[in-house]
Amino acid sequence: MAVDTMPKVQATEPNPQGYRTFSLGEFTFSRDEYFVHIKWPTGRHVMSADAFLRALQRDVAWGFFYGIVNFDGVVGTVNHYGTVDLFAGRYNDSYRKAELDHVENFPSDVILATFKGILDDWTNASFDPFASPHETGSAFGPKQGDNRKATGRRRVTAQRMVGVPGDEALRSDATGHPINRHFTDVPQDEPQIIAEPGFEGQVCSFNLFAYLSRSDVTWNPSVVSACKASLYCPTTEEYILPVIHGNDRVEWFVQLSDEIFWSVEDRDTGAVRAKVVMKPGDVAAMPADIRHQGYSPKRAMLLVWENASPDIPGLIASGKLPNTPVSF
Ligand SMILES: [Fe+2]
Repeated sequence: MAVDTMPKVQATEPNPQGYRTFSLGEFTFSRDEYFVHIKWPTGRHVMSADAFLRALQRDVAWGFFYGIVNFDGVVGTVNHYGTVDLFAGRYNDSYRKAELDHVENFPSDVILATFKGILDDWTNASFDPFASPHETGSAFGPKQGDNRKATGRRRVTAQRMVGVPGDEALRSDATGHPINRHFTDVPQDEPQIIAEPGFEGQVCSFNLFAYLSRSDVTWNPSVVSACKASLYCPTTEEYILPVIHGNDRVEWFVQLSDEIFWSVEDRDTGAVRAKVVMKPGDVAAMPADIRHQGYSPKRAMLLVWENASPDIPGLIASGKLPNTPVSF
């Protein structure tokens, strides 16, 4: 006899605006035409529906990512790689001091099933949470259809490198990836490979700029090459990073084109630590004890370099690794 192992999602019948209300532990999530309402035993919070769905889309697609995904200054998730904390006010000094913060821990598959249910139910046909505001319709209004083509996008995760036979494919018009309106000046020629005799078929290369010029999503670091735990996760950025990412390890940024403004805060309290302007060629190492949110006035190419080693958060927490990769 087949056993149903899918985690149960707690949801009500649709409200007058057509949206279901979801429960997870002692949290409830509901939406109306404009806003998302989140309640927990010691408080409640409201977010704009478009900002909430953009953040939720990334938390779902990234499998809760590295460390903390703050949807804003109040609610978010902490990835413990197997379980996930859902929190309200936990990384907000005022909520902490007032003792209004709330945290619950869930198996990753349980919270993921609920988050996928919310994303599916609350995303209207007109809205693509991964797209820039200029390239999507509205998230607002009463429920109207769904956009599973957008919300169910497969994330690029190369095992070795994009373009290697059997690995992630290059992008082209034929694969449904036209050149973005902001990158029409990016050359599209591919590198020529001249392999030594005996090594034909073993050498691969691709034009990363051309590849990124054809990205149809924003703020979505995807793995284009992997060398053990060293992952190159470039992404194209436009408008605002929909989450405030709290690091549990050092994260390197290499600005490949255009300009991004970063707001850097203390990871645990939200206190402002730095404002960073990154221009083409700039390199930054975001420390392991901060959180950051980026603002990109025009679509920009950013290389995010992650060390995916599962040992790092523990080594940093125990003081065996510093929060910064270099000291001056
Ligand atoms: Fe980040």
